[in-house]
Amino acid sequence: MKDRLIIAIDGPAGSGKSTVARQVARRMGILYVDTGAMYRAITLKALRSHTSLRDEKALSELVAETNIDLKIDGDFGLSVYLDGEDVTEEIRRQYVTNNVKHLACLPAVRERMVVLQRHASRSGRAVLEGRDIGTVVFPDADFKVFLDASEEERVNRRYKELRLKGYDVNRDEIKRDVDSRDTSDKTREVAPLKKAVDAVYIDTTGLTIEEVTDKIIKGLESLKR
Ligand code: DC
Repeated sequence: MKDRLIIAIDGPAGSGKSTVARQVARRMGILYVDTGAMYRAITLKALRSHTSLRDEKALSELVAETNIDLKIDGDFGLSVYLDGEDVTEEIRRQYVTNNVKHLACLPAVRERMVVLQRHASRSGRAVLEGRDIGTVVFPDADFKVFLDASEEERVNRRYKELRLKGYDVNRDEIKRDVDSRDTSDKTREVAPLKKAVDAVYIDTTGLTIEEVTDKIIKGLESLKR
């Protein structure tokens, strides 16, 4: 087996994690694991089953009997399967995004997600992106990155992305969403978003995807020396 290579990329919404993580995975020829997609999938299941988002016990039971698989398709695109059903499109909808925070703060949900995330990376060669990869999921990752960007830039990126996909959104709405997710990600008691002490901090404001990817690849090359 090739040497283990676990790369942890954390950061707030709109910091460019998904695109950069995908590019790094492609360039290194290793797996890409989008952990936010997993939190989105379990949120979708809770909403569909009309489980109260305040009922911690019911949600813990629900997550225990849930399976989430990620499959690479095509050019490092990712399909997300919830108990065997392809939910790739549905989990990106706003009603799902707005409700993830209720599940992401529950210890039982996070514990199960960590199990699924480690299982998805069992080949030992993967780029994982999320909020707690370098601090909780893989505290022993081979390389850790914390991506950030100014709030204005992160809101603009989200706005452009959603517009491109044809959604009729306005900037104020996106700003509220980004603010609210930042606050709940950073202030929750379990696994809050924070930079691991040994992570490389990259401010992506004004940088292109290629520039950020190059910085990470350069960092990886220095590991070999
Ligand atoms: O990366 P994303 O925006 O698709 O993630 C959706 C939500 O999931 C995000 O608002 C916070 C949560 N999340 C988390 O709590 N821990 C992770 N490792 C990844 C995502």
